[in-house]
Amino acid sequence: DLIKNRRPASFPPGPRMFPIVGNMLSVDHKKLHESMTKTVFIKVTYGDVYSLRMGQRFVVVVNGFDAVKEALITQGDSFAERPVLALQLDMFKGLGEFYIYSLLFTNGNTWREQRRFALFTLRNFGLGKKISKYFPSTCLFCAGKPFYPHLIINNAVSNIICSLVFGHRFEYDDEKFKGMIEMCEKGIQLQASIWTRLYNSFPHLMRRLPGPHKTLQNIWEDVKKFIREELQDHKQNWDPSDQRDYIDCYLNEIQMTKGQTDSTFDDANLVACVLDLFVAGTETTSTTLRWAFLYMAKYPEIQEKVQAEIDTVIGQSRQPSMEDRANLPYTDAVIHEIQRIGNIVPLNLPHSTTREVQLGGYTIPKGVTVVPNLTSVLFNKNDWETPHTFNPGHFLNEEGKFVKPAAFIPFSAGKRQCLGESLAKMELFLFFTSFMQRYTFSMPVGVKPVFDYHLGATRAPLHYELCAMSR
Ligand code: HEM
Repeated sequence: DLIKNRRPASFPPGPRMFPIVGNMLSVDHKKLHESMTKTVFIKVTYGDVYSLRMGQRFVVVVNGFDAVKEALITQGDSFAERPVLALQLDMFKGLGEFYIYSLLFTNGNTWREQRRFALFTLRNFGLGKKISKYFPSTCLFCAGKPFYPHLIINNAVSNIICSLVFGHRFEYDDEKFKGMIEMCEKGIQLQASIWTRLYNSFPHLMRRLPGPHKTLQNIWEDVKKFIREELQDHKQNWDPSDQRDYIDCYLNEIQMTKGQTDSTFDDANLVACVLDLFVAGTETTSTTLRWAFLYMAKYPEIQEKVQAEIDTVIGQSRQPSMEDRANLPYTDAVIHEIQRIGNIVPLNLPHSTTREVQLGGYTIPKGVTVVPNLTSVLFNKNDWETPHTFNPGHFLNEEGKFVKPAAFIPFSAGKRQCLGESLAKMELFLFFTSFMQRYTFSMPVGVKPVFDYHLGATRAPLHYELCAMSR
């Protein structure tokens, strides 16, 4: 069918495909989530389930709460895998021929074992308590003077996952660490760029060409080198009776499963999983907080209301804790609305069918890439009163109590639902309330907040300067 340039029988329909490129040119790659959320292509309207052909690969787009829920929950088992993409294969080739490591990209037994272990281990380290210990000190925000919040926030957030995984934090002036965080960020942006789409669509050609896809491979190689050094340090000081962090627990697991031929715990997988936690655990929360500052600067009256609630419930003399959340419905609603409108993982991570399935009246064969489009759910006019306007009221009932609409799924849903969700929620709550308790944020004089973004695997605000006034 590919050669005949047409869709298989009963396959979800979609816009006309061109030879070789398919629908590569039917979408705007800089706003891919918006392109995929619309269903009208060249005057033809498609339903909630339609298909695009990106080069040589078909992608099924699933839009709207009902269809996404049907795929990820009701038929969760059939949509639980990740597609095996050329770029991933090439990146991990050095670790074992055609064997993909990690949490984010594995399937089957490897994914199941690694996910279970990571969830269990992260939960065991008493997340909430650690966060306040790693909170950035006041002097980081040179009060009153405009500053770029980006790196400081990345660093503060990253230190949480570092303390859980590596057992220690990094200083704000540690050049090596700063370089690492910047590299991860660049990696995330490139990871979902048109270059990687081209690579996955035309691997034979792209492998021979220079370009950002090669930079990407070098970036992840450098980050892995950094993790391997941490691993070496851990091995040198390893004491099985004192498990300090994720790496220690992992080394223990390798020891315990030694000799089992089907064990998925080894050094290579350790490095890959730590890389996932480090990357997924830094960029996401930090991007959300950077949207938070922009919205607070744009809506000072909302910021004041949050501060008033925090002043009444917590006061100024103690740090916020997770127990405060239930008593801060307005603040909680604001955080949720930031996550909704911030839409930081707009196209979810790609899924893949594990068997032939029926969805929306169409047949999708096994092994087809599926995009359960989060943008289409978080901005659907049937689910949200003012989908494109910042409105904490989306999460408050008439009595001002916090409520969470079912369509709030920024962490996705089902078997692959974000592994770091509870950590991320704690981080967002504790960072946001602590910032609001201590500072008032605004743009520098004469500057308006700009909501333009850069789209990679995440949707991130462009660099901006901010003012933080101590309260
Ligand atoms: C997966 C969102 C924070 C680790 C995901 C997915 C989304 C997501 C949409 C894909 C789910 C799917 O495929 O259906 C977010 C958001 C975050 C956040 C919005 C913060 C605001 C974190 C943190 C960690 C983390 C802090 C680290 C502890 C992961 C991992 C996966 C994942 C390992 C892959 C799960 C799997 O494939 O089984 N996240 N995430 N995330 N996230 Fe997060």
